Amino acid sequence: MPGPRFTKFDHKPRVIVTRRLPEAVETRMAELFDVTLNLDDHPMSRAELEAAVAEAEVLAPTVTDTIDAALLAAAGPQLKLIANFGVGVDHIDLAAARARGITVTNTPGVLTDDTADLVMALILAVPRRIAEGERLIREGAWSGWSPTGMLGHRITGKRLGIVGMGRIGQAVALRARAFGLAIHYHNRNRLPKAIEGPLEATWWPTLDAMLARVDIVSLNCPETPETHHIINAERLRLMQRHAFLINVARGTLIDEAALVEALEAGRIAGAGLDVFEHEPAIHPGLLGRPDVVLLPHMGSATFEARQEMGEKVITNIRVFADGHRPPDQVLEDY
Ligand code: DGY
Repeated sequence: MPGPRFTKFDHKPRVIVTRRLPEAVETRMAELFDVTLNLDDHPMSRAELEAAVAEAEVLAPTVTDTIDAALLAAAGPQLKLIANFGVGVDHIDLAAARARGITVTNTPGVLTDDTADLVMALILAVPRRIAEGERLIREGAWSGWSPTGMLGHRITGKRLGIVGMGRIGQAVALRARAFGLAIHYHNRNRLPKAIEGPLEATWWPTLDAMLARVDIVSLNCPETPETHHIINAERLRLMQRHAFLINVARGTLIDEAALVEALEAGRIAGAGLDVFEHEPAIHPGLLGRPDVVLLPHMGSATFEARQEMGEKVITNIRVFADGHRPPDQVLEDY
């Protein structure tokens, strides 16, 4: 095992930030750290990331950076902390970081409500055809109200199946209850009664069984080797023809080609997607469809969340540089 993990720095930590962060966060970082910012916000090339890990003591990356084993092999021994700006860490090879004695932190909690709000927005937008209606007006194609115009589907009384009942899944459930949805969930472990009870939530030990019974599916689990393509062609076949699929978690949870096929074949009724398998590329089969709502990975995109995420990154770096375990350490078992 690597040696002592938390050693006090006797100098300002050398921090490299890979993307632009909110201005107040960057200003504070410049006061506290020996920091290099990415002022024009370009996504860093592989060569730039290699140069960064060769020099930084702390790397502050985001979801747009691939921090894989090969990149970490190029890191100098001075790289001690990866302080991710974001809660998802699937773009970081955690095992490789652990093997090199590099601590990894993320920014949980502060984006939960905003992300759950966006899930709710898509749960409303897809069945009620909100984006389609907006396009109709902008295209000058609306000829006025009619009894059969723009009919969608009621969500009150429908069954919502949440895949992954962590912080965000629970926040979605809380909101969905207020809209009269019945809460169903699939999670490795059943939640304690104290959480399940007030949500009147039904636990499904197997995902397949739940998919066949719910009207709306919301993916709220992290991307891991186990959850990669958790929604594939077979699982899409299990869903009901009138069901909708919502994904504000990670694009790679869905086999996007299989989703396009299922939509084309009418095997499900629509999808609301904030994340994509090959982001920022979008499967061309999704672009022309009126039954999908597409958003540009904006689950946590509020001024408040991004500011608080930045503050968490700063706290994690400061506590680490002070020689203590940072509050949002991802790997607990060093
Ligand atoms: C998150 O926090 O994981 C967001 O998706 C941005 O990375």
